[in-house]
Amino acid sequence: MTTSVIVPPDTNVDDEEDVAVPGPNAQALVARDTHVMVPMGRVYPLAIARGEGCRVWDVDGHSYLDMNAGIAVLAAGHCHPRLVQVVQDQVTRFTHMAGTDFYNEPMVRLAEKLVSTMPDSSHWQVFFCNSGTEAIEASIKLARHATGRQNVIAFYGAFHGRSYGSLSLTASKPYQRQGFFPMLPGSFHTHYPNCHHCPINLHYPECGIACLDAIERTLFHTVCPPGEVAAIVVEPIQGEGGYVVPPDGALRKLRQICDRHGILLILDEVQSGVGRTGNMWAFEHEGIVPDIVASAKGLGGGLPLGAMIAREQWTQSWKPGSHGNTYGGNGLTCAVAHEVLCLVEEELMANAASVGNHLLAALHAMQQRTPHISAVRGRGLMVGAELCDPLTGQPDRHLANMVMEEAFRQKLLVLTCGASTIRFCPPLTITKAEVDEGLAIFESAIRACV
Ligand SMILES: Cc1ncc(COP(=O)(O)O)c(C=O)c1O
Repeated sequence: MTTSVIVPPDTNVDDEEDVAVPGPNAQALVARDTHVMVPMGRVYPLAIARGEGCRVWDVDGHSYLDMNAGIAVLAAGHCHPRLVQVVQDQVTRFTHMAGTDFYNEPMVRLAEKLVSTMPDSSHWQVFFCNSGTEAIEASIKLARHATGRQNVIAFYGAFHGRSYGSLSLTASKPYQRQGFFPMLPGSFHTHYPNCHHCPINLHYPECGIACLDAIERTLFHTVCPPGEVAAIVVEPIQGEGGYVVPPDGALRKLRQICDRHGILLILDEVQSGVGRTGNMWAFEHEGIVPDIVASAKGLGGGLPLGAMIAREQWTQSWKPGSHGNTYGGNGLTCAVAHEVLCLVEEELMANAASVGNHLLAALHAMQQRTPHISAVRGRGLMVGAELCDPLTGQPDRHLANMVMEEAFRQKLLVLTCGASTIRFCPPLTITKAEVDEGLAIFESAIRACV
């Protein structure tokens, strides 16, 4: 039995590929799976039964090395004993009591913890929600409300979610918008500083990150007066866009542009935050202070949780009822997230930095002997290897899809992003030995596909 991957998720499976379903129990599950609406399509037929650390077992007992972590979610790995304990303890006390309407200690404690990770920690507040999309949606609303301005600027290649506000900023794949126009009025896009595929054909550092000058030189002088811009929304490392690391100084330059025009700087740390890049937040690598940070994915350790963390000078604008939800501040997810942050501070952040360096170095070495790898980039455990056609040097989307599927056959879980990048975003608990094991499979998968 094979599954046909028909429509792409936030990865690159845009051509129909047949991937064998690896066992009878998985085949039975796939056959039953007719009532789940999957507008994103399945990437490959993994049917998980259980997980532990960086290992996953499917319903037929096959074991996989997980270098995907549920799309950069499981910061502490599968079923970390400390998170399991917190779930068990909290679930016997209470799970839910509408955090926007009532008080609960796990929510208050998590807010204290989150603001303690911010520069000048006394001047921040947290809005809790259930996903990255909602954190971005809240950020757009707060920026508009606090500045009294309407427009928001984002970047080509960005992914911020698929609700109407966030989708209006998302700009990584055309099918994400196809059939859904019109978008939110007042959404503008400009070039992301992507040095491997420079949008204006210059070279860093001589360029002075000139691609960002388009904001003031072009946008502000043509279609988007700066006095009507509420916010610039940016991923400190572009995730779905291809694990693109901007050059040093790019975020500082954006901060300066924002300061010159009274614009809020919103950092989308949904994928890059919570220790993944070796710091709690990726923006720390540039020493800037954003106005708003959107977090999710790793924060909940596998439970659905989003957070908008905003400087208090902006949050005062919201009046009771300005924004809200039912599940934000859920006692169970907040208790788990607090433990995740403790683990990240105690050990996972340092592990992400050191094992991440090991991963980057090993991929750079592989690049030397593999003409199909055109670029290796990343920070901490957010690392991508871009695959190309060695004759043209151009991104090879089809090869990336084939390598991802072959890796699955060889029991390694990875996903693609951007045009042709294989991304490595494993649990932050991963060891160097596990990285070596995963990369051996990755290299073997490339060899099998070229
Ligand atoms: C940078 C970024 N922002 C926002 C989102 C949306 O988050 P969610 O899928 O939790 O709504 C994602 C999801 O991939 C993301 O990578």
